[in-house]
Amino acid sequence: MSTSTDIRRTPMANVHIDPSFDDAERRRRLFAGDVLVYTKVPEVAAFAAFTRDLVTGALGPDDPTSVHTRRSPDELADLLIDFKPKFIHHPESIAHLRRVVTALGAREDEVYADVPKLRTAFPRGGLSTGIAYAFQPHRDTWYAAPRQQVNWWMPVWPVATDNIMEFFPRWFGREIPNNSGDYNYYVANAWRGRIKDFSGSKDMRVHPAPNEPLDADEPRVTVVPPVGGIMIFSGDQLHASIPNTSDATRYSIDFRTVHVGDVRDGSGAPCADVRCVGTAMRDFRRLSDLADFTEEEVAPYDTPGTDDGVKVFVPS
Ligand SMILES: [Fe+2]
Repeated sequence: MSTSTDIRRTPMANVHIDPSFDDAERRRRLFAGDVLVYTKVPEVAAFAAFTRDLVTGALGPDDPTSVHTRRSPDELADLLIDFKPKFIHHPESIAHLRRVVTALGAREDEVYADVPKLRTAFPRGGLSTGIAYAFQPHRDTWYAAPRQQVNWWMPVWPVATDNIMEFFPRWFGREIPNNSGDYNYYVANAWRGRIKDFSGSKDMRVHPAPNEPLDADEPRVTVVPPVGGIMIFSGDQLHASIPNTSDATRYSIDFRTVHVGDVRDGSGAPCADVRCVGTAMRDFRRLSDLADFTEEEVAPYDTPGTDDGVKVFVPS
């Protein structure tokens, strides 16, 4: 069944629940600011179950959703710094990602993906820097995501409005003053090998954000997918982590995809106020064979004369 909720007073016009669009129509709508949710996808449920097993094994004997009550922020940082790369680079993680994307109608020979990330949000007062950074309002495109980027977000354990993420739909396609011009992706890649240096009270990295805090009455939209469901949105949406005021640690998976046809013809989101240097395009691999984009495909999205730093971060 396909239904939609029209929230006409904001530019993010539609949240589509279990739509029947094909992949081309889905991307067209995402790049216009719509958000989609698929509520019951067996391949998503399987990815969540796989991840719950991995997390439970890594944190045992503690219950993962209450581990923050028994471990200090420093202990949690050490556990996550050890565990998160294992999840990211587990061969089954990318296999699950491929199954999710193709189950929802995308072609593995046309779609390129970044590695899936496991996010943790501890209840307020817990670790919120470095390896568990709580993202302030941002667009992924301020962090050098390509305008073609599609973001996929799924809970691992049940989530609620007090421990998830939110959108600020008023700003889709509209300029908001921000410091993305201070962000150089290749310099940021050089920092990624030193994540421990930025955990605790030492997170000095550039995090692009609006220059002024958003108004207290800024319109916000929170979409809450069930476990086994997944939310999809443009990387150009202004969005943030909601400070976790629940008593449970939130675990979610997100990953990003780019369609080669969009890269070649320049389709994508508006990117009304993106000033960062460099592009994350080289992080994406074709799902069918893990091929890179060619430098000819990347070049129109890169910033000429940016040879400092690290073009592609490879974890050691
Ligand atoms: Fe983001």
